[in-house]
Amino acid sequence: MTEDHRPIKTLDRVLSKAGLGSRTEARSWIGAGRVRVNGRVIQTPDHWVDLERDTVTFDNQPVKQGKKIYLLLYKPTGYLTTYKDPEGRPTVYNLLGDIDQYVVPVGRLDLETSGLLLLTSDTQFAELVTNPDYKVPKTYLLKSSKHLSDDQIKQLRSGVTLSDGPTKPAQVTRVRDSEKYTHLEMTITEGRNRQVRRMIEALDAKVLKLVRIAIGPIQIGDLKIGQHRPLTPAEVATLTKKKGI
Ligand code: URA
Repeated sequence: MTEDHRPIKTLDRVLSKAGLGSRTEARSWIGAGRVRVNGRVIQTPDHWVDLERDTVTFDNQPVKQGKKIYLLLYKPTGYLTTYKDPEGRPTVYNLLGDIDQYVVPVGRLDLETSGLLLLTSDTQFAELVTNPDYKVPKTYLLKSSKHLSDDQIKQLRSGVTLSDGPTKPAQVTRVRDSEKYTHLEMTITEGRNRQVRRMIEALDAKVLKLVRIAIGPIQIGDLKIGQHRPLTPAEVATLTKKKGI
């Protein structure tokens, strides 16, 4: 059994996993004395709670562990993958409407990247899909600012050197060429910061357009841009099976 399957969690996690808010919010509520464990006010967010034994209340209401939710959003460009932006720019949360649980993005897409973004209340699922050790493939379509040669595509496949080290082998297919541009489909398993853009920059070109079309077997399909839908239980299972959770 992995650590996260144990019914023992810190108090701030119990509140955020129940969908009441972020862990930061939970820590402030705990500090403010609004949370009780077995009737006693606990002001330490790192207090251990055994969910099978302990009763937690928030503002005197029992805290129930929410059913986990998994959403697939077609993120448009121009939306940040953060909860709030100090500059007031739109975030992916503005696209979700009324959902009754706190969800976290599963990895990030850059402001100017569009495509498939998963959001979930299941932090263990989020960790699994983003952890490079689990090698969950992420597939992108991209338009490069220059025509890329077969040799350059081979370099992308075998790995290019970035400032944070060489990239792992990638699957790269030439989709089409126009006079000036090359369109590629690229599947990577790492997901480092701005990785696809930096891989193309390593070839002295730039990414003009980047869309994520799949995570593992989950495809964006015909979902409309800006829309979201729940993942089916079968889709969740395909991402979690054989990973031991
Ligand atoms: N790689 C990037 O460069 N940007 C993204 O948003 C995702 C992958």
